[in-house]
Amino acid sequence: MYIPLLQIGSLILERPVLLAPLCDITNSPYRLLCRRNGAAMVFTEMVSAEGIVRNQAKTWALARFTPEERPLGIQIFSHDTAILGEAAARLESLQPDVIDLNFGCPVKKVVRRGAGAGFMESPERIAQAVRSVVAATRLPVTAKLRLGPKPDRVTAIEAAQAAQAEGAAAVTVHGRTTDQGFSGQANWELIARVKQSVTLPVIGNGDIYRGEDARRMIEQTGVDGVMVGRGMLGNPWIFAACAAALEDRPWQPLTPAQRWPDVEYHYRRSVETRGLKGLREMRKFLAWYSRGLPGAAEFRARVVRMEDPEEVLAVTRDFFVNHQANHSESPIEQAI
Ligand SMILES: Cc1cc2nc3c(=O)[nH]c(=O)nc-3n(C[C@H](O)[C@H](O)[C@H](O)COP(=O)(O)O)c2cc1C
Repeated sequence: MYIPLLQIGSLILERPVLLAPLCDITNSPYRLLCRRNGAAMVFTEMVSAEGIVRNQAKTWALARFTPEERPLGIQIFSHDTAILGEAAARLESLQPDVIDLNFGCPVKKVVRRGAGAGFMESPERIAQAVRSVVAATRLPVTAKLRLGPKPDRVTAIEAAQAAQAEGAAAVTVHGRTTDQGFSGQANWELIARVKQSVTLPVIGNGDIYRGEDARRMIEQTGVDGVMVGRGMLGNPWIFAACAAALEDRPWQPLTPAQRWPDVEYHYRRSVETRGLKGLREMRKFLAWYSRGLPGAAEFRARVVRMEDPEEVLAVTRDFFVNHQANHSESPIEQAI
């Protein structure tokens, strides 16, 4: 198929498939894993611009990354457009490839203050925010939008046009309104309308669960790139599937044993970099990796109680590597 060339500022991506920012999920080890499997660009989870400006250690920790994760965008949020600019300027010290602005977080507390998806109420405030950040940094600035506050108030076209006029290098459009949260189907037709109304690169986001979906979104909406969110939970291999679909190659899903090297890599990287906290964080990932497989419930019940890193590793290795032998009723269709 025709594969669009996605260029953000001077950055040209290897393929137009990006990892979405997900709070408490897209941390450094997981971003690395997604990059290894074909995500052409990754983003940090949303980072408080106030926390950066006030030099809070925990906030700076969320923004840090390792060079192998590049190309990487640091995503920031605040209701205050001047603070967004100041945070972007300070974050230049980490030399990310992009600064991304969060205009999509639907959490009530955030929206009420006018941060996150609160910005979708007012394309004029989006213009102010992009202007402030573009003036503060030499890095390319991107914006992550929703469709608008609610179905009868779609503001994404004006918001994307405002971002473009103020010098944004690209926009991502999550095809849901703020009041939808994360439920219901993403509206790809409206993503297509945003794409048609601007000249800057548009990245489409929402409901990509298989490689074929990435291809369909590009074909149906004309977007320059796609961003994968929940479809990668427990399935970092979706990026390889997307690459195969875009390049007209067949994709052979992975069996549990074939998933093991990546699961081990993720686990080791988490525990090595974050110790016991990393081990505890891995519990939800292990649950996602094992989802749908025979014996997954017992496996999860065992590992949630364990705090010895080697013991967790041994039980997990046995679950994935010997899965076929331990669960003879588990045929190859358990592959994802
Ligand atoms: C648990 C969770 C955390 C999220 N955190 C962020 C975030 O920090 N920043 C952001 O821009 N979007 C965040 N999102 C939204 C996703 O990036 C994405 O836009 C959304 O899930 C739609 O894509 P999908 O249908 O592929 O999941 C989050 C979504 C979920 C489910």
